[in-house]
Amino acid sequence: MSVTIVGSQFGDEGKGRIVDIFCDEADMVVRYQGGDNAGHTVVIEGEKYQLSLVPSGAIRGKIGVLGNGCVINPKTLFNEIDGLRKRGIDPEIYISQRAHVIFPFHKVADNLEEVAKKKMKLDAGTTGRGIGPTYEDKAGRRGIRIGDLLDKDLFWKKLEYLTQKRREMISEVTGPVVDEAFDLEAIYREYCAYGERIKKGNMAIVSGEFITEQIKLGAKVIFEGAQGTSLDIDHGIYPHVTSSNSSSGYAATGSGVSPKIIGQGEIIGIVKAYLSRVGTGPLPTELEGDFADDLRERGGEYGTVTGRPRRVGWLDVPMLRHAARVNGFTGIVINHIDVLAGMGDIKVADSYEFRGESIRVLPPTTELWGECQAEYRNFSGWPECDWSKVAESGYSSLPKEAQKYIDYIASEVDADVIAVGVGPSRSETVLKRRPFNW
Ligand code: IMP
Repeated sequence: MSVTIVGSQFGDEGKGRIVDIFCDEADMVVRYQGGDNAGHTVVIEGEKYQLSLVPSGAIRGKIGVLGNGCVINPKTLFNEIDGLRKRGIDPEIYISQRAHVIFPFHKVADNLEEVAKKKMKLDAGTTGRGIGPTYEDKAGRRGIRIGDLLDKDLFWKKLEYLTQKRREMISEVTGPVVDEAFDLEAIYREYCAYGERIKKGNMAIVSGEFITEQIKLGAKVIFEGAQGTSLDIDHGIYPHVTSSNSSSGYAATGSGVSPKIIGQGEIIGIVKAYLSRVGTGPLPTELEGDFADDLRERGGEYGTVTGRPRRVGWLDVPMLRHAARVNGFTGIVINHIDVLAGMGDIKVADSYEFRGESIRVLPPTTELWGECQAEYRNFSGWPECDWSKVAESGYSSLPKEAQKYIDYIASEVDADVIAVGVGPSRSETVLKRRPFNW
């Protein structure tokens, strides 16, 4: 049985915390796309864990799988694993042999491309982790996969070609390249050592086979999408997106299981009660000034990976309707309800004014979305509460105004509310139902 968890906005909706709660009943957590661009924070008994590649559940003793749709920076992965070991946690992690590998020159390419695009306002505001160029090499059929690191001769052959190709591509822009990120022999040595470590730890698998077998044996599996639907390369705000499909359809392709497994399970959209994003691009409900600063501070809206202050805005419901259709939500979780408490009345964009008409869904292109003016609906705000008590007593003890807000969102996306986040820690979650027991 499976539960797929996806972001319904721009990432940073608090997926990690929800995966952390739901994985109590799971045996395995699978990442199916993205790489160390994804930051998730989990707080356990006051201890904060910030991870980017290790799936959230792995710190609770669950099996963690990085599927074939992921791009892996082995240096980050092993740093995270070693950091966790120092804190007394020994995560069990497996990596698909078909997952692609991020090299130092991918980061150089990522940053150069951003600088070039910035002049034309076409930059994505990337995390600079080399994600886009690694997926480019995958699509260009010259990428190097985890399985290649296990065969030193084959790896050398592929690396020689790829390093030369990347060097040529970059020198066309910058002139001759002398960066150590292109030092073939040094990269070879470093990555052979990662290959050895992967081999020794029996970490390399065929993820589709491994997961399917476990499910046949009765395993409960969480598929954890990174980023969010508005950052999906096909369904997001292109080109201000990441380079993979974060939506639920890719949970199958990016892990190698049948779409039936995903479709027969639950698909949960994580919604932040307002909007935040780190990257560039239009944002019709964007807030500015003191109110935005206040919201940013209260919500701790600074990127987990880059530390950049996030842009903030009111909830955008056309964006949620789009996400609900793309992903097929069976349920939603609404996070950060506590952050809006005591901030006065709340607005949501229920529709947009677009070229003289009122529309309820996203227009087809990002440029047209940039023309949209939010048509707001007002909700009464709710007061500060003792949120741990609220979480203990259940949904009906949420302030009535907050319930009205939550019920409105659920009805617009036609999905049940499964949980409501009212604070950063695990205990500050109002649970309506447990997804593996519905
Ligand atoms: P990239 O994934 O580093 O190529 O960045 C592309 C876009 O996705 C940028 O707007 C990033 O800020 C955004 N992005 C990537 N990963 C995350 C994430 O985990 N949370 C929020 N935004 C992200």
